[in-house]
Amino acid sequence: MNPEAGPLRFSLFTLFPELLLPFTQEALLGKAARQGLLAFDVIQLRDFAGNRHHKVDSPPAGGGAGMVIRVDVVERALASLPTPPDEVILLTPAGQPFTQRLAEQLSERQHLALLCGRYEGFDTRVERLATREVSIGDYVMMGGEAAAACIVEAVGRLRPGVIGDAESHRADSFSSGLLDYPEYTRPPVWQDETIPEVLLGGNHAAIERWRRDQALARTLARRPDLLPNAGLSPEDSRTLLALGATVEQLQHWHAPPPPSPKRRRRSPSSSPL
Ligand code: ADE
Repeated sequence: MNPEAGPLRFSLFTLFPELLLPFTQEALLGKAARQGLLAFDVIQLRDFAGNRHHKVDSPPAGGGAGMVIRVDVVERALASLPTPPDEVILLTPAGQPFTQRLAEQLSERQHLALLCGRYEGFDTRVERLATREVSIGDYVMMGGEAAAACIVEAVGRLRPGVIGDAESHRADSFSSGLLDYPEYTRPPVWQDETIPEVLLGGNHAAIERWRRDQALARTLARRPDLLPNAGLSPEDSRTLLALGATVEQLQHWHAPPPPSPKRRRRSPSSSPL
């Protein structure tokens, strides 16, 4: 990414700006905004109602419960941006699932507009104003604000400088496609549970291997569906076999285990060490 590129701007369109404003002003997001790494506009959709009563919704055509947000309101709201955004993202449970990969793609953009629905949602013609529709999970919330907050968090932290180095390493470990390894800190013993000795021994290579193995074990137990895209190494495959994965599973995950070192035939020229 070009460091001269300036902040990543989020334009958040909502009927409840007071839900999103503090979110963009506190903690690391607020700090990043003050440092000019991120920029936020929280825009009240009602300001574009085009009527005295600031009414943005109407009953659904064909009848039924609830109210639907009008497409012309959204069109005017988007047109108020000084320049067209790179993406207009409609938050809806019917959208493409939000993933780390999508967060990475969006973090390369300069300006993202996010449309937060309420009531029974938007008139479906709003889809024509959007570049994509995104869902943060298979459940229905009362509006898109919490979904927009998730996207701002996950995308914003990927911009250079928004989080510290230590955090970046952890981000890398999740971007590798595995669940994160467990962390411990003081006290050394809590309710009979101790910190694993390897973490106290100072052997960095051993600690790295232990963390990778823990990440593999957690992912195998909790989210085996992630393993086909995790870029498993031969060493990882051996660990997974030892953890009870089958050879068939490993084949499915595209990482056939290498022959174990003991069974490998040594060529005459290879060093005895
Ligand atoms: N609005 C309501 N539920 C949602 C979800 N799961 N994802 C995105 N936007 C939503």
